[in-house]
Amino acid sequence: MPKTKEAEDIETRTEGLGDLPADEFRRHLHAVADWVADYREGIASRPVSPTASPGEVANSLPAVAPEQPETMDAIFADLNRLIIPNLVHWGHPQFLAYFGSTTTAPGILGEMIAAALNVSAMTWRTSPAATELETVVLEWLRGMLGLPADFKGIVYDTASVAILHALAAARERANTDVRALGLAGRGDVPAMRIYASDQAHSSIEKAAITLGLGERNVRRVVTDEDFRLNVEALRAAVDEDLQNGLRPLAVVATVGTTSTTSVDPVLEIARLCRERDLWLHVDAAYGGALALLPEGRWAMEGVGEADSIVVNPHKWLFVPLDFSALYTRRPDLLRRIFALTPEYLRGDASAHEENYMDYGIQLGRRFRALKAWMVFRTFGREGLAARIREHCRLARLFASWVEAEDNFRLLAPVTMGVVCFQAMPNSQHETTLANEFNAALVERINRTGKVYLTRTELRGQTAVRLAVGNILTTEDHLKNAWDIIRSEAERMQK
Ligand SMILES: Cc1ncc(COP(=O)(O)O)c(C=O)c1O
Repeated sequence: MPKTKEAEDIETRTEGLGDLPADEFRRHLHAVADWVADYREGIASRPVSPTASPGEVANSLPAVAPEQPETMDAIFADLNRLIIPNLVHWGHPQFLAYFGSTTTAPGILGEMIAAALNVSAMTWRTSPAATELETVVLEWLRGMLGLPADFKGIVYDTASVAILHALAAARERANTDVRALGLAGRGDVPAMRIYASDQAHSSIEKAAITLGLGERNVRRVVTDEDFRLNVEALRAAVDEDLQNGLRPLAVVATVGTTSTTSVDPVLEIARLCRERDLWLHVDAAYGGALALLPEGRWAMEGVGEADSIVVNPHKWLFVPLDFSALYTRRPDLLRRIFALTPEYLRGDASAHEENYMDYGIQLGRRFRALKAWMVFRTFGREGLAARIREHCRLARLFASWVEAEDNFRLLAPVTMGVVCFQAMPNSQHETTLANEFNAALVERINRTGKVYLTRTELRGQTAVRLAVGNILTTEDHLKNAWDIIRSEAERMQK
């Protein structure tokens, strides 16, 4: 039958629509697979960080989106020419900054499959297996961390978002009816206070800002010589606030602080929280991973007493960004605040469908559990623990090199994978000069493109901070890094 005019018009209009042809997609997919494998295999020979100045990359790209289709070959060419050389390679074995990159082969595979599936784990119905795998993986992780069975887990993207939800639950527990009434314009709610050590992470303030509690209502408490929260000072701060008519709401204790990985005395803090009826949130975003080692369980002592705890498998459990697990004994509070189901998302109320959208502000949720499942299965608990143990060994070894050198000194105890130290310039004993020297040293080291470090400040002293957390980092990489650090410091003395 000859085509009608209308059928011909539709054919002309839809020609070239749809996705890339299947054979072309397959070809590119194979190329990407090789690219990823080459990237991982050759990553150590790349400069770990770029030399670009701000704006350089953006200025080399067109200011408007292309009007006409471009080929994947052209896109890949720009990727290799412009984007890749101007990245910091977090997976590089001599990337020793922040908390190490936890990219791993099974994690990459999981991310690739999740991208292909692109399902949303917002309700059980929107993808039953995505929801149930999340529940299973969270239970596995809970078991590996040694947390009691009455802790329920929820996956968020980051620890910053997890603490936001934990403090929202704490606020809900105070029966302020904020969900319905908000906080603005209310004279019946006193200022609500949150306490954390002077070493705790800035995400606490961000959560307070977002929840309308106010940045100034986060009270920082002094730490001891090992950077652990001073419980007597905490008690005094809480009691002072109570006397002043404020409402102490929550304490955030940290297991593995960002600068030094110090561990707060959680058990004592938990006792105080119980006495004063405060919510206890434990930020174990980094340090929680230590609980996988029998010899690391000490770090989690008392954590079972908490109301909520966050652990980031994307920090030290080899799951790529992003995956943050919040555990709480009071998931009912999260549901009380956040469960809100429009008709189109309603499931079968009698079927006990788990809808993770009920525990937070996010509706669409990535299938994050898949990569964690693949990572945990690939390495097993023993394999994960062995790698964490090795990182701790490497950090202690590095610290012993620092201690053995006259011109260097440690600035904090080494408890996990982080070493904070200082180079001591020959003739410059004054703190300011030592601080400038060490700040400049980190810049110089990073400019070599061979090692990447960060610096931090500890009681007015600028510390060079080295973190071992990358699955590819070996003793040889650390030796290289130490050689570079020493030779740059020597060169600065000349
Ligand atoms: C102790 C601690 N808590 C929380 C965070 C925030 O983590 P995220 O990037 O997952 O929000 C960090 C980040 O480094 C951290 O070190």
